[in-house]
Amino acid sequence: MSIDCLRLSVTDKCNLRCVYCHPQPDCRPTEHEDILGFEEMLRIVRLFAECGIKKLRLTGGEPLIRCDIVRLVRKLGAIAGIKDLSITTNGVFLESLATELKDAGLQRINISVDSIERKTYERITGFDLLPKVIEGIHRAIDIGLKPVKINCVIIKDLNDSEEQITALSGMSTSLPVSIRFIEYYPTNNSTRPATDYVPNAAVRAVIERKYGSLTRTVMSIGNGPAEYFKVPGSAGTIGFISGRSSNFCLSCSRLRLTSDGKVMPCLYSARSHDLKRLISSQGEKAIRDFLSEIIAEKANYTKLNSLKEEFSMCKIGG
Ligand code: GTP
Ligand code: 5AD
Ligand code: SF4
Repeated sequence: MSIDCLRLSVTDKCNLRCVYCHPQPDCRPTEHEDILGFEEMLRIVRLFAECGIKKLRLTGGEPLIRCDIVRLVRKLGAIAGIKDLSITTNGVFLESLATELKDAGLQRINISVDSIERKTYERITGFDLLPKVIEGIHRAIDIGLKPVKINCVIIKDLNDSEEQITALSGMSTSLPVSIRFIEYYPTNNSTRPATDYVPNAAVRAVIERKYGSLTRTVMSIGNGPAEYFKVPGSAGTIGFISGRSSNFCLSCSRLRLTSDGKVMPCLYSARSHDLKRLISSQGEKAIRDFLSEIIAEKANYTKLNSLKEEFSMCKIGG
């Protein structure tokens, strides 16, 4: 598997408090001086690009609250070798930033929306901001960010009713978006127990009862582990990311860089390499050699190296 995709968390701060992510009031963001600065990010991404990384996804926390995000996107997009530049966002600030981001070189966007029922959205995220997010989705479609993917994490007794699931998947019948159902994975910081996970087979059964059999389709743009389907005749697609009920480690092409500069070869592994420290002391060749080693080592990671340490999704970016 060629490792050509880097997920860069540009901040661990977030304006929402999703129940599956970092709801604890005492979850403190990293101190400013420990966060990667723009020049550090640009240097690290350039070196990664020289080692074969072609696809870059900005994550958070919430990436759109990073100060000067548009300038960062412009600079990252200009790095030689980066062919695919995308962001995963909660969408709250998308309506106001989408056009500038696209002009700066952003190609596509993934937006987290776990319910299109206003009260449930508020229960999950802690804020009554669904209408703003929906405006952001429409703006992204209108200005031609493509594809627009919607991430939905389904959690037992929260948003797993037939009504909620069919409403979410129904968005794909009228809008050119991909609605993706992501199996919930508990982290040390989430408030929901592991047993609150709903297998995607159950989600799919609900969708098929309402819309009939789904037909398999291929998404030409994307690097992630989703499998895609379509309700025949619909404008968009439906995707399933089934990290709990299946294992896609062998096809994983992604590295993750946390906002404080640690490279994580695997989402499920606590092992990481401190690049912030390394780039302050080493020359270009030594860093490139080190990055190449990390890329080569990635094949050894599977879910079997499960996390044993503190694990915070807002630092890793999903
Ligand atoms: P594209 O397909 O390129 O659009 O990217 P993506 O789907 O990987 O990006 P996104 O940030 O929207 O990821 C959606 C979610 O998929 C992540 O937040 C994770 O929950 C899950 N995911 C992505 N990569 C992995 C992975 O390597 N392992 C597991 N278990 N889950 C992943
Ligand atoms: N389980 C599943 N998905 C998660 N995400 C964040 N935390 C979790 C979790 N515990 C996903 C969100 C968001 C992306 C960044 O990560 O759906 O779209
Ligand atoms: Fe923020 Fe995303 Fe975590 Fe929700 S899942 S709290 S939007 S970082």
